[in-house]
Amino acid sequence: MAKLFIYFSNSGNGELVAEKLKEKEYDIVKVVPKKNLPKSFPSLILKGGFLAGIKNKMKIQDLNVDFSSYDEIVIGSPIWNGGITPPINTVLAMPELKEKKLSFILYAGGGQAPKSIKRLNKEFPGAEIVVLREPKKNPEELEKI
Ligand SMILES: Cc1cc2nc3c(=O)[nH]c(=O)nc-3n(C[C@H](O)[C@H](O)[C@H](O)COP(=O)(O)O)c2cc1C
Repeated sequence: MAKLFIYFSNSGNGELVAEKLKEKEYDIVKVVPKKNLPKSFPSLILKGGFLAGIKNKMKIQDLNVDFSSYDEIVIGSPIWNGGITPPINTVLAMPELKEKKLSFILYAGGGQAPKSIKRLNKEFPGAEIVVLREPKKNPEELEKI
């Protein structure tokens, strides 16, 4: 069983998820936007929050991954403004993923993501979704995966 964790992380919570899944024999691919995100937190909240709110698909660096070689793919995203992050929206639109067995790990300050769960349930019926509350501050949340 070849397993892949493909994820985005801006402030390190996703890295903890990646470390945990690496221990479980997942290959790890980090999604990197082509353009840098704002460095200051207020600008990031404004720009990132806005873009996530409109389900923006941000241009990303080449992934160099052959999705067809994986039996299971887990996608990781922070929650921004209730939504999935723009670099992961780009991944979600990739036709190669349509036929794959997908699941999702979302990480959020409040540990809840109802809007995104609703969206993912609609777009990827049957996919398992786990939401973690800020694993950097709450490492015990990693036990959910
Ligand atoms: C632009 C922005 C918007 C955010 N919006 C939300 C939100 O709507 N709900 C929430 O619970 N957390 C929100 N957060 C917090 C992040 O989801 C949380 O810190 C997450 O763990 C970050 O993951 P990372 O460290 O891998 O980037 C937001 C953070 C940023 C930067």
